[in-house]
Amino acid sequence: MKRIVVTGAGGQIGSWLVPRLRELYGSSKVLATDVRHPGGELTQGGPFQIVDATNPKAVGQAVMRHRADTVYHLAAILSAVGERDPRLAWHVNMSSLEAVLEVAREQRCALFVPSSIGAFGSDTPKDPTPQDTIMRPETMYGITKLAGELLCDYYHARFGVDARGVRFPGIVSFGAPPGGGTTDWAVDIFHKAVRHARYTCFLRADAQLDYLYMPDAVHAAIALMEADPSRLLHRNAFNVTAMQLTPESLAAEIREHIPAFEIDYDVDPVRQAIAESWPRHVDDSAAREEWAWAPSFDAAAMTADMLEHLRPD
Ligand SMILES: NC(=O)c1ccc[n+]([C@@H]2O[C@H](COP(=O)([O-])OP(=O)(O)OC[C@H]3O[C@@H](n4cnc5c(N)ncnc54)[C@H](O)[C@@H]3O)[C@@H](O)[C@H]2O)c1
Repeated sequence: MKRIVVTGAGGQIGSWLVPRLRELYGSSKVLATDVRHPGGELTQGGPFQIVDATNPKAVGQAVMRHRADTVYHLAAILSAVGERDPRLAWHVNMSSLEAVLEVAREQRCALFVPSSIGAFGSDTPKDPTPQDTIMRPETMYGITKLAGELLCDYYHARFGVDARGVRFPGIVSFGAPPGGGTTDWAVDIFHKAVRHARYTCFLRADAQLDYLYMPDAVHAAIALMEADPSRLLHRNAFNVTAMQLTPESLAAEIREHIPAFEIDYDVDPVRQAIAESWPRHVDDSAAREEWAWAPSFDAAAMTADMLEHLRPD
């Protein structure tokens, strides 16, 4: 039976991943940690501890006291926040990764480290974006994600650390709000649709990127960590996608349920430029072949489910 520590557990992904891990492996087996106190289900449904993931001693103690064999490392600064404060993004993303990799090496833990479509750059082929291709990211976030992929592979090759990761695309969910990324619009649009039947988008109508609905994102992380290592030709990090959305196409999906819904645009040049440097459609065949990745939600199923959960009764 696994014993797990999750860093950055109070964020958008952690608030979904932790309850699912507790369901699968037992509540007491999953220690949720974050630099801030998130409250709610995360702290009530099982053990929670404040841990600054950039502090190697604090991470090491948490892993040792919990007798963990697996760490899901979610603590990070995301793309848009990272462009506002690039030094903070470098410090948090790289120091915390170094800390968890060293702890994984010393205490022989398996490690999940999410990368991102942000690890690609303008030189990358955009449609389809191969699993193995040119990667020259232009944001500080992307630079930390690519460096993270390489560092995880290095720790695997050099020290045998079982570090695995996926390149998450934009993730849509209800509950904990997104943490300041370029794809946050695909969450905000649902909240505004339900409340005001109107949304002003910070990306252009035709800005196409890959997305996952949160249940598929959680499934991807857990399925990869459960995968038979002998089948993995790659480790860090697998392309995964379920759908390609533009603001225009998602607005059309929402109109199927809320016919009066209207979208207009007030484009933020910083986030638009980030979106333009990212893939339009990643090729996730390596994940499908090596660990049977298969998403459950397309744009129509996700839209129906989001609106069902967000609409007032
Ligand atoms: N959500 C997405 O669309 C998406 C897409 C691609 C990749 N990812 C990656 O997935 C991971 C989790 O993303 P998320 O969306 O949950 O992010 P988020 O911003 O919602 O949550 C991150 C959490 O990390 C915590 N944190 C920040 N600094 C910390 C520190 N020093 N020590 C401990 N905790 C700290 C924050 O308090 C927050 O709760 C990140 O690595 C992110 O880059 C997310």
